[in-house]
Amino acid sequence: MCKLLPHLIDMKQICFLTAALLCLFLPARAAEPTAISIQTDHTQLVLTVDANGNLRTRHYGARIADPVLFLGMDTQAKRPNGAGPMTLPTTGGVFVGSPALHVRYADGNHNTELYYTGHQSRSKDGVTTTEISLKDPVTTLQVKLVYEAYGREDVILAHTEITNSGKKPVELLDYASSAMHFEADRYLLTHTWGGWASEMQVDRELLGHDTKVIESRRGVQATQRNNPSFLLSLGSAEFSETAGDVVAGALAWSGNFRLTFDRDDAGRLHVLAGISPHAATYPLAPGKTFVTPDMVWTFSGAGAGQASRNLHRWARNYGVYRGGQVHPTLLNSWEGAYFTFTTETLLRMIDDAAGMGLEMFVLDDGWFAKDYPRNGDDAGLGDWEVNTDKLPEGIDYVASYAHDKGLKFGIWIEPEMVNPQSNLAHNHPEWVVKSPGRDIYQERNQWVLDLSNPAVQDFVYGIFDGVMQLSKNIDYVKWDCNRVIQSFGSTYLGHEQDRFFVEYCQGLYNVMRRIRAKYPDVLIQCCSSGGGRVDYGALRYFDEIWTSDNTDGDCRAYIQYATNLIYPPFIMGAHVSAVPNHQSGNVTPLKFRFDMACTGRLGLELQPKNFSARERALAERCIASYYQYRDLVFNGDLYRLSSPYDSDYYALMYVSPDKSRAVVYTYCLRYQNREGSQHGFRLEGLDPERSYRVKELNVDRSCWWGDGKEFSGAFLGTGAFNPDLPQKYSSAVFYLEAK
Ligand code: DGJ
Repeated sequence: MCKLLPHLIDMKQICFLTAALLCLFLPARAAEPTAISIQTDHTQLVLTVDANGNLRTRHYGARIADPVLFLGMDTQAKRPNGAGPMTLPTTGGVFVGSPALHVRYADGNHNTELYYTGHQSRSKDGVTTTEISLKDPVTTLQVKLVYEAYGREDVILAHTEITNSGKKPVELLDYASSAMHFEADRYLLTHTWGGWASEMQVDRELLGHDTKVIESRRGVQATQRNNPSFLLSLGSAEFSETAGDVVAGALAWSGNFRLTFDRDDAGRLHVLAGISPHAATYPLAPGKTFVTPDMVWTFSGAGAGQASRNLHRWARNYGVYRGGQVHPTLLNSWEGAYFTFTTETLLRMIDDAAGMGLEMFVLDDGWFAKDYPRNGDDAGLGDWEVNTDKLPEGIDYVASYAHDKGLKFGIWIEPEMVNPQSNLAHNHPEWVVKSPGRDIYQERNQWVLDLSNPAVQDFVYGIFDGVMQLSKNIDYVKWDCNRVIQSFGSTYLGHEQDRFFVEYCQGLYNVMRRIRAKYPDVLIQCCSSGGGRVDYGALRYFDEIWTSDNTDGDCRAYIQYATNLIYPPFIMGAHVSAVPNHQSGNVTPLKFRFDMACTGRLGLELQPKNFSARERALAERCIASYYQYRDLVFNGDLYRLSSPYDSDYYALMYVSPDKSRAVVYTYCLRYQNREGSQHGFRLEGLDPERSYRVKELNVDRSCWWGDGKEFSGAFLGTGAFNPDLPQKYSSAVFYLEAK
């Protein structure tokens, strides 16, 4: 601090005296300039500490040998704010950009200036955790920046821990998890937008000089409109799978989020990611610490494909609950039966599922509530007892029947919600999210329960626990959540409504922690009207997602492609449904629907008895062949060969980690012309030296001239792999095995 003072002496003696006095009381700032290196096998984040204790971000990208050289950059700043980006930009000091941290103190002051006080690192099992401590010498606010570097996966997690070490409460106005800073000529942002049944649509834009914000204020179902994730191509206006520097990020949080892309006047880009502060000024009492959610970062110097593979590997090894474990194929009752079924209906569906070679039957909505039976979406939510009018023998009877047939059994719940027509709504009106004195808006005829309230958390946990007691043969739970939060208000929080959105999400995680402690082995699907809750926060507790209610194979190409930019294929529930598709009305061939669904966790969602004999035979064939390569869906590496957004032909492949096996999926999404139908794809990820036998699956006559023959990985990478896909919705799947 004292080193900064001489220029003030010339200006005003009085300032010097005041500052000198302060020096007696304030902790000294770092004396030794230091470079802090946070690295993985192929990436590196370098931060520097200058003589005054300013912590700045100098590099996030490829590994470099001598990070200490960055210290030289501290010597040439022309102006205080020209010295390079503060690692955690705060409102205060000379900083006037978008802050990662903005605090209002008890006296109304908005200024925070953080200085380095120390750091430490520890490594265990390939993960290095670095904690950097910062402190504001005036307000005594303390912040810890925590980075976890996953060596083999090339992923870095970042979060902050903000401690009010003063004597009065403070308010957090902005509290991003992480800020990352980039220096490039161009920044091409790839992110997703969408809505119900059209989640995860790709948007690409070159960032201009304004601030770009991607935000969710939906409370729950936070990701249906947009996802808290992105890819950033650095120094390029082109999106490339295989070339160039690409950074990818994803916030591990299931509530309101905000991603800010802020370019400064020097052209640098500052990316901030965290909980949305919308209606969420968070109060921090003396002695309390607020821990932000993790931001997941990765970098690839070889295009977007590698960035996705880094995230997928991390997800498999760390980010997804029991990631990489193979999930059963299934028949889900929803589109085949909706709310209208009896025990008999379900038993016949189970028979068909077993007969087709599926591995699980999932009973979806409609099985519960007695006084307000769940015969439509307008009643029963909240009353989780079996509807014995529909299922007089109970759930255990159906679940045991499935087990006897060699199938696992799953069941649907929507525990965060309540229909006004339910005993729960009548008995606990104080548990419903509502704004005092106003009507409660309904969506899908339902209201939201206030998970910020610990009593509601107990109740929601009790729903899961109670349903699990219905039968010892429940292997899988589909957890649904079918509306957003509007006109929010919590009776429990009283006048502290600002805590609501944060504590709703933390409440959900509290419940999930308890569920996982008691039911570590139950497969739990995260569904929210389809893909309304797809994020790495939820995936710490859930095994898979319901990708979208839109099961049209054509629409799924776009949704699944975009989902896999950030999230691994193995979490994607992907179902074959009837035509015309119940959402889009589109008619696609059954084989096309299977070939699309087989890129994720395969399921069927239809009434099997409506299959013709030919359709049923094809279904059985596709299901059987899926088992031949399913381990590649769950544990292989994804290579995107062409994008549905950029090409009439969509293709992708999964390659086993040892490169001995692969599966290639190809589709025609738009009819072009007969000449162009033999579209060449360059296969990737194979060993160029090894020889692979290529076999098309699920057909008697292949659409590729090389079917059944052997080719080197190098040859298959030339574009000579050109299956004939002559019509809209032609598709072909190939299995490759090295000799
Ligand atoms: C929405 C889900 O996305 C569907 O799959 C289905 O479970 C319905 N809810 C049931 O109400």
